[in-house]
Amino acid sequence: MSIHVRPATLGDYHALCALFEELDEFHHQARPDFFRPLEGPARTWEQIGQWLADPDSTVLVAEATPEAEVIGLAVLLPRPPSPFAGAVPRKVVVLDTLVVRADRRGRGIGAKLTAASMEWARGQGASHVELGVHAVNRHALRFYERLGFAVSVNWMSRAA
Ligand SMILES: CC(C)(COP(=O)(O)OP(=O)(O)OC[C@H]1O[C@@H](n2cnc3c(N)ncnc32)[C@H](O)[C@@H]1OP(=O)(O)O)[C@@H](O)C(=O)NCCC(=O)NCCS
Repeated sequence: MSIHVRPATLGDYHALCALFEELDEFHHQARPDFFRPLEGPARTWEQIGQWLADPDSTVLVAEATPEAEVIGLAVLLPRPPSPFAGAVPRKVVVLDTLVVRADRRGRGIGAKLTAASMEWARGQGASHVELGVHAVNRHALRFYERLGFAVSVNWMSRAA
């Protein structure tokens, strides 16, 4: 099996939904206070179509060949520049979602998708790629740290 990373198309919609569902289910199990189960796909055809049509965002997929199976995805979105006058001007691309099909994890596919995401962001003229990880997702935190990301903000929450 070899892995090829390419931009998604709407022809990938059902495979993308299956991958998003894996992530959503993980988040729901881990943080049922934040994530609720949904009937049907949580991301519409229109939403994904918009990400693909907007030159400032994209969805990348990892495709296994020769099976031509989509087994991973990365969603890259723009972050509006900070309105704070004291902020150093930075162009930030957000790695909004990264997921590899559960039966294909631990084989470097996530690292490959991240490398392709960094390359796409550099092509956009980005100075930084940023992402959020729920504290409960320790595996993902370790994964990103191994790839050179460092925690820059600790976003905190408590019940009111
Ligand atoms: C985080 C994620 C994208 C990484 O993808 P991946 O293809 O497993 O990544 P890699 O193979 O490049 O690296 C995975 C790491 O986990 C280890 N690993 C080994 N077996 C594994 C398995 N069965 N499952 C997961 N990770 C495993 C790998 O060895 C590697 O760590 P190391 O290099 O420090 O040893 C993937 O685990 C995933 O989809 N998780 C659920 C969704 C998620 O949490 N996404 C991130 C937040 S949006």
